[in-house]
Amino acid sequence: MSHNDAIAIGEKNIILVGFMGTGKSVTGRALSRRLQRDFVDMDTLIEQREGRSIPRIFSDSGEPHFRHLERALVRELAARKNLVIAPGGGIVLNADNIRDFSETGYVFCLRASPEMILKRVEKDANRPLLQTEDKLGRIRELLAKRQALYDAIPLQIETDGKTADDVAIEILAQLNPGG
Ligand code: S3P
Repeated sequence: MSHNDAIAIGEKNIILVGFMGTGKSVTGRALSRRLQRDFVDMDTLIEQREGRSIPRIFSDSGEPHFRHLERALVRELAARKNLVIAPGGGIVLNADNIRDFSETGYVFCLRASPEMILKRVEKDANRPLLQTEDKLGRIRELLAKRQALYDAIPLQIETDGKTADDVAIEILAQLNPGG
């Protein structure tokens, strides 16, 4: 990353939205390294603060409670600067979240095909919404429900066949086209 990138981006947060398995966390880490910024993985921070895993929060307290914790954290992070943030895939379900993040940051939507998503999440038991036999079917179903919400984000990045570093470089190029 060049000094010019940091100047062009200023202090605004960079938020990586997208469905599960689109590479938000790995890309966020790569981008934060390049920009020498702090990286916040929202699910990890929620788990640390709650002292329990995401599946546990879902099973013990229910999805609405998790969405409430998520919403509170969005408000907190949107009030800060200089962060790279990876929210969970369901962040788009509440329009207030995208509105708050957009007011103080650049919101990107990472995209991937259902097959690529399956490949990335297959062996991970930490996703309560995908604990089913037919994971690909579930991915397609959830994606169909949410597609319009992801599509509504103006800055879109395709991730199929790309490394986290490739995607980070593409994001920087979009933020600083002349740099
Ligand atoms: C969710 C995505 C997960 C996590 C929770 C719900 C969703 O995050 O927040 O399991 O509703 O799409 P990742 O997108 O990081 O897997």
